[in-house]
Amino acid sequence: MSDQKTKSATLTIDGESYDLPMYSPSAGPDVVDVRKLYAQAKVFTYDPGFTSTAACDSTITFIDGGKGELLHRGYPIDQLAEKSHYLEVCYLLLYGELPGAKQLEDFESLVTYHTMLHEQMMMFFRGFRRDAHPMAIMTGVVGAMSAFYHDSTDVDDPHEREVATIRLIAKMPTIAALAYKFSIGQPFVYPRNDLDYASNFLRMCFAVPAEDYEVNPILSRAMDRIFTLHADHEQNASTSTVRLASSSGANPFACIAAGIACLWGPAHGGANQACLEMLREIGTADRIPEYIARAKDKSDPFRLMGFGHRVYKNFDPRAKVLKESADEVLELLGIENNPTLQVAKELEKAALADEYFASKKLFPNVDFYSGIILEAMGFPTSMFTPIFAVSRTVGWISQWKEMISDPAMKIGRPRQLYTGETMRDYVDIEKR
Ligand code: SDX
Repeated sequence: MSDQKTKSATLTIDGESYDLPMYSPSAGPDVVDVRKLYAQAKVFTYDPGFTSTAACDSTITFIDGGKGELLHRGYPIDQLAEKSHYLEVCYLLLYGELPGAKQLEDFESLVTYHTMLHEQMMMFFRGFRRDAHPMAIMTGVVGAMSAFYHDSTDVDDPHEREVATIRLIAKMPTIAALAYKFSIGQPFVYPRNDLDYASNFLRMCFAVPAEDYEVNPILSRAMDRIFTLHADHEQNASTSTVRLASSSGANPFACIAAGIACLWGPAHGGANQACLEMLREIGTADRIPEYIARAKDKSDPFRLMGFGHRVYKNFDPRAKVLKESADEVLELLGIENNPTLQVAKELEKAALADEYFASKKLFPNVDFYSGIILEAMGFPTSMFTPIFAVSRTVGWISQWKEMISDPAMKIGRPRQLYTGETMRDYVDIEKR
């Protein structure tokens, strides 16, 4: 981290003053360094949910929540979505710069030739119940990679870190597709080396032995764009989970499995499934006021899925791109009158016009439109979050590599505000 101190903050407690160094970032807010606060003042900072806490320094992704800006290594997400493609964005996130032609060719070839799973792992899928959620399967299978790929689990070996990186990026689509095929009782489809990343994934999901499968270029472009838009997002809950798990030195497969588990929650990556199910439940535009009222009712746990964000207090830039893609994909597929999309657009209009959402700066996020596109492409809602996990794997790994290769890295070990019983003596059962 750039340790150069730019200014300092003074904290006064009971008349005692403590100088805390401050650092200025290349973009975003200054930070107050409280690492020595406990040693000096014997107090903790208190920030459950980390709303005001910078847990690390990073050079990978920058978000300006007020402006609705998202940069990957400085490049705006809308430009990457329009001009780049997922594996090139993977290279950018991993290595910090856009690749030259030869670098990109070598990277894509490396990924392509590592898409197959160890054949013995194929049996793992058959151990799950048919109706297991694909996220449950992915969490289990990715964690189990620790038991197969022993030559890429030593986090202190840069070569092994690189091998694990390629294996995870290459095999995640295969694992997600296998989980899908297993859940619908269809034969597994193996990856092909003559297809690009997104096309390979679509074919593994939708091809059947009974007939040839031609990848629709519109769908593979939409798929690649969805992968690109979900690739990384600063220190979100699942990325922070991967960083915390990795800080103990756990192997990369176990740490990515932890990230998958965290992403699954409906407040996070599970929101795309929950949002589509909500739009279906609303059904028609005339029922929107009822759901808007429920979302505002504090006694009702219902929230508008796909709306709101811890950081964005403006439009999520990814939602903007996905909204345009939804129109394009549905029109090209001849389902531009998709009732779910109509409800989504009416719901967005109604929410943005409502004082409650406007005052709390609740805007559509990445999950609001992604499900509509994925459903139009033929995926069941249970596959929405697995697709998010496939894409976010490169973000988790990039952040993991950044942290694990920092010699100053320490194990993450937060403290607490203890509000329980103070010391008391054991009471024998006869006296209770
Ligand atoms: C992702 O962090 C990331 O970067 C995540 C992500 C990524 O790429 O990794 O961007 C992906 O997870 C996107 C978010 C997907 N989740 C949803 O769409 C679920 C619905 N959204 C909410 O659960 C909520 O907005 C969160 C979880 C996303 C953010 O919650 P915060 O920041 O903790 O905000 P909050 O819960 O404190 O809400 C602030 C206020 C509250 O009201 P008050 O207590 O101030 O009266 O806004 C209200 C909330 O009740 N509110 C909502 C709402 N979201 C917030 N009210 C109704 N509907 C909503 N969706």
